[in-house]
Parts: sequence; C-alpha cells; structure tokens
Amino acid sequence: MATFTVVPSDSPLPEAERKALMAEPGFGRVFTDHMATAVWTPEAGWSDHRIGKLQNFSLHPSAAVLHYAQEIFEGLKVYRHADGSLWLFRPEANAARFARSAERLALPLLDEETFLTSVTELVRQDEPWVPAYGGEESLYLRPFMFASEGFLGVRPAAEITYCVIACPVAGLFQGGVSGVRLWVSTNYTRAAPGGTGAAKCGGNYASSLAAQLEARDHGCDQVMYVDGVEHEWLEESGTMNMFMVTADHELVTPGLGTILEGITRDSILRLADRHGLTPVERRVSLTELRQRCADGTVTEVFAAGTAAVITPIIGFNGDGFEVKVADGEPGKTTMALREHLLDIQHGRAQDPFGWMRRVL
Ligand code: COI
Repeated sequence: MATFTVVPSDSPLPEAERKALMAEPGFGRVFTDHMATAVWTPEAGWSDHRIGKLQNFSLHPSAAVLHYAQEIFEGLKVYRHADGSLWLFRPEANAARFARSAERLALPLLDEETFLTSVTELVRQDEPWVPAYGGEESLYLRPFMFASEGFLGVRPAAEITYCVIACPVAGLFQGGVSGVRLWVSTNYTRAAPGGTGAAKCGGNYASSLAAQLEARDHGCDQVMYVDGVEHEWLEESGTMNMFMVTADHELVTPGLGTILEGITRDSILRLADRHGLTPVERRVSLTELRQRCADGTVTEVFAAGTAAVITPIIGFNGDGFEVKVADGEPGKTTMALREHLLDIQHGRAQDPFGWMRRVL
C-alpha cells in the first residue's frame, strides 16, 4: 500500500477567510489548502505520493492531456455527522469506476487502497474545510488522472499525474430542489456503443458544452441526451442519471451501456423497495416519456448524481414539443428518496448497506 508523505501547507488560509468563503461556497469555486498527488511512469510505476500545499501544475505546452484529452476523474463527497465525525459515501465504488475509466482511456491502474488512502489523507489534512453538520453542504473531492508527458505523438502517455483536490460545496444547481427543466437535444449526442460514454473522462464533458448552451438558449437548465442512432432512447442528462416514477410504483431508469454508471443511481435503485417501488432498468423511449407524462402514468421524474444529489425534473422541452411532468412541482417520492439518501449520508438514518466509511 502506498504511503502519502504529508507536507502541510506553510500558508493555510486564515480561519476568518476560510469561514467567509465557506458561508456561500457555491459549487467548485472554493478550494481547500491541500492536494494529493502521485506520478506514474512505465519504469517506476506509481511514485512520489504526497499530500502538499494546493498549487499550480507546471506542464510542458505539449503535455498530452492538453492535446488529446487523455484524462479521467471522479467525484465523491465527505459528510460531517452530528458528533463531528467525517464520513465518505461508497468511496470503494468510486475507486472501482476510476479503474474502469482508466482502462478505457489507456491510463494506468491506481489500486483501490491507494485511491482510498489519497482521499482519506487529504480529508484529514483539510478537516476544517468540511462544512458543519446540519445543512446540505459537504466537502466534494475530485480525484483525477491525466497524461502529463510532453510529446505530440498519439499514443498512451508515459508520464501520468494523479491528483485529488477538494472543495466545500452547496448544490450544483441554484434552486435545484424546486426542480429543473431539461432540453432533449437531437442535434447533439453524448455517446455511442464502443465509445467512452460509460467512462468518466473529461472529453465527455467537453463535448457536452455545446449541447448545454443549446439547452440554455431554450430556457432549460441541462440537456437530456438520447441515443445516437435512432435519437429516440433516453440516455442521461449531462451530469446526472434519469429516473421516472410510474403510477404503478415502478422506478424506471435507462439501463447501463453508454451512460455513466452513477453511484447515486445504483444507491437509489437499491433503496427503491423501501419506498414501495420496484426498480426497473430498461430502455426508455422519448415517445414513452411524452405519452406517459401526458396521460399521467408517469407521475414524477428526477435526476441523480453525486454533485446534483437528487434533483426533481419538472419538464422537458425539445424541438417542437414541451412535456410537463405532473403538476410541475417536485414529486413526493422524489423528495422522500432524496431525504432518505441525505439522511444516510449525514448519519441521521440507518445505513442498511454499509455504505458509509469513517475518515475521522
Ligand atoms: C458528479 O456528480 O460528481 C459529477 O461528476 C458532476 C460534475 C461534473 C459537476
């Protein structure tokens, strides 16, 4: 198991400034004092494991990531419980997905133990940055790995940098709990069989930006992607997986393949029966969504992700159509699932699957 050498920052932010920043952190704008790093080469494998001061990278302008986007990342959160203790939610699942993403992007494997040690040690070093118990804020961790070798040939890089940074966060969407509206894009698709749709790689997010602008232009908060062949089968919403609650108590979500294997997605499917719902993973067509929202047999729609938690979807717009979900208000089941998940994460509800892992 790798040991991370800890070199505490010589200039941590003064407490008063930290508290001022944490009062309104937004999402991904405020960063802690430290970062975890390690470097990989084919000769040495992983080396130079460190927790040190948060600082800029120095990269050669030809660093492969800047040209060919050989990069992957993860997102997970640390929660403070009422007794002050700090807990991660299913970090082993993030480590496993990171390994799958690495394989798809021809990046080296970082073993689970090293992944867990890096996030745990970083959190211990930056403990004061974990938001207080009682609100919805948490400390978001962003592990990532990228091709830092400088060269312009197209091949897997022979120098890779691993890093974890952390930021106290509130919700991903401003006013997200009151519901968001999705734009069903038929101009842009996110993934195709054999592509990188299931990997958490920067390139997927880069190519989502034009679609996101298209959504904004149509008064929507995010995109809802459909498949790239028939433009008919629902996939995911850029940063979230999608769920429908039906009148006959099914919780339906598109099956895996070209979508991100969301850890929140999996957790919700496993909590479904506690809410009287049968979890169903299958193809969902746009036609079905439109018809069933219109005839009332789909009663709620929501989206889920680490950053977004559970966000109600109150409507869809697309080229020449508009779909209203129920009465346009967040649904009861959606909010109950949301509260249940947050209660487990914040230590207020029993953790029936042993998802929480104590850090401090
Ligand atoms: C996450 O939920 O961790 C995500 O990856 C979304 C992020 C890109 C904002």
